[in-house]
Amino acid sequence: MFDHEQVAIRTGRRSRLPVIVAVHSTTLGPAAGGLRLWHYPDWRDGLTDALRLSAAMTSKFAVAGLPCGGGKTVVALPEGRELGEGERRDVLRDVADVIDSLGGVYATGPDVGTGPDDMAVIGETTPHVFCRPAHLGGSGDSSPHTALGALAALRAVSRRLYGSPELNGRGIAVVGLGRVGAGLARLLAAEGAVLTVTDIDPDKRRLGDELGAAWRAPDDILSADVDILVPAALGSVLTGRTATELRCRAVVGPANNQLATPDVADLLHRRGIIWVPDFVAGAGGVINAVSTELHHVSAEEARARVDAIEDTVGDLLDTAERHGRTPAQAAWDLARSRA
Ligand code: PHE
Repeated sequence: MFDHEQVAIRTGRRSRLPVIVAVHSTTLGPAAGGLRLWHYPDWRDGLTDALRLSAAMTSKFAVAGLPCGGGKTVVALPEGRELGEGERRDVLRDVADVIDSLGGVYATGPDVGTGPDDMAVIGETTPHVFCRPAHLGGSGDSSPHTALGALAALRAVSRRLYGSPELNGRGIAVVGLGRVGAGLARLLAAEGAVLTVTDIDPDKRRLGDELGAAWRAPDDILSADVDILVPAALGSVLTGRTATELRCRAVVGPANNQLATPDVADLLHRRGIIWVPDFVAGAGGVINAVSTELHHVSAEEARARVDAIEDTVGDLLDTAERHGRTPAQAAWDLARSRA
């Protein structure tokens, strides 16, 4: 069923690349969601991703209690296509044109493949952009806040599993060492967690070594014998097959769209594995950006709101147990009741 308010698909005037802006819902307020600049086998795969990611943003904002709707932008790069500096600018200006033409129903932000400097370029054309660098009046990089929010979610899960939020000595596998994953791995190392890490980029192994982490191949790490698995890269890592191979007690991390299909949440539940929905655990970035840029709260207040993910997850796990439902169902119910 198509349940998005609108989807704009335009060929960029400069880049000739397809720019896809999916606005899922503006029920709670103008839609927001990042710009994903990534490789896809076919642009239609980028469209599928934009549809799913924007719907997840609606749930993310609803559960976080923020007055925003869900949206997402995807620019689907053909496999192997690398952008030079000028080409990248062209893509960003094409994206900015589409966003600006929507007249404020959607604002973008960083996502996989983009960061604050890209938001600065978009901000030259349209005001509907979050996370520009601080000197341009934005809230800057959202990834440290996303990492802190995921850490809060991990604490709630640890409390649930072991009666204590302490992560010291817990075996934790981090899948993906991009902006968010690397930051989270550093935080976890500082907490004294026993880390296993991976990334599709073998150069990231150096960061693993620096943090004293064990390294596993990407398709090997999901079956690692750890307490908690932390997806921190691209989506769809949890499939019917991988769900049966997991040896952890919980899966909680900031990657968007971790489930290949919704029923995998039930499969995990039946195996006694706690899955905290990604749209709850990964909300730290948007919570910080919206709180500082729209609500103008102080850095301390924004941090408190990000840390409150620990309570949100704790409440969700309690509610799910009380009603004999999965945490995913409880979170979807909560999102639907608000948006
Ligand atoms: N990548 C962020 C997310 O998925 C998107 C975002 C961050 C949007 C900050 C707006 C502001 O949550």
